[in-house]
Amino acid sequence: MTKKMTLSSILKAKGNKPLVMITAYDALFASLFEDSCDMILVGDSLNMSFAGKSDTISATLDQMIYHTNAVCSGAKNSFVICDMPFGTYTNKDAALKNSIKVFQETNADCVKIEGGIDKAGIVKHLTSNAIAVCGHIGLLPQSVRSEGGYKVKGKTNQEALSLIADARAIEEAGAFCMVIEGVKAEVAEEVAKSVDIPVIGIGAGANVDGQVLVFSDMLGLFEAFTPKFVKKYIDGASVVRGAVQNYADEVQTKEFPQEIHTY
Ligand code: KIV
Repeated sequence: MTKKMTLSSILKAKGNKPLVMITAYDALFASLFEDSCDMILVGDSLNMSFAGKSDTISATLDQMIYHTNAVCSGAKNSFVICDMPFGTYTNKDAALKNSIKVFQETNADCVKIEGGIDKAGIVKHLTSNAIAVCGHIGLLPQSVRSEGGYKVKGKTNQEALSLIADARAIEEAGAFCMVIEGVKAEVAEEVAKSVDIPVIGIGAGANVDGQVLVFSDMLGLFEAFTPKFVKKYIDGASVVRGAVQNYADEVQTKEFPQEIHTY
């Protein structure tokens, strides 16, 4: 069994070992990921790959709490991050009230919130009230409707400078690490170099402090669309379809169940 990561071992990893983060939404998958991954993110991406919605916007706090509880039960030895869903941290009071609910109703180790300088005051309010925060800068899935789509960031010098300013503001506010999503690789590298906390990339190139992938993407289970940054480590959808077809065939031909499956 691997040792559970802590805020301090995550911070110490910077510059020493790339951090491995993966999403999970239930106990079963979380238990399978626990030995290989440093951190498990209960991402609001579950609204798409688990609940079948077209974006993350309608995920609710109660749903995030339900799934975080499942993940914490399945991976008791993992550092678990609960994604705060859209609309739950629009001001300091709401952010604190909702994060306290997450901490009191689950065993999550921290919350994750999307935003840079604009959210630094909220991050500071949370961290000064004993809520550990993982930031999330760059492409912000919760802004998909206001931005009119998923837009890669860091394409101009101005955007690069503002990402560095975002990262510094989040660090200054007390976040212990951050996700950087959908950012030109050379800019993400600069962002990672400009702060002392780990910067975990998704679609942000190799030269950051770790990587995160959505598990249903990397296992090839989610077929609706595949972003360029996803590597499918297995064609899970074909494996599952094939196995279920075999089962269906064997039920119909009465090959299953056999003697060994029978009381
Ligand atoms: O919701 C999620 O899974 C995330 C990852 C894309 C980082 O925020």
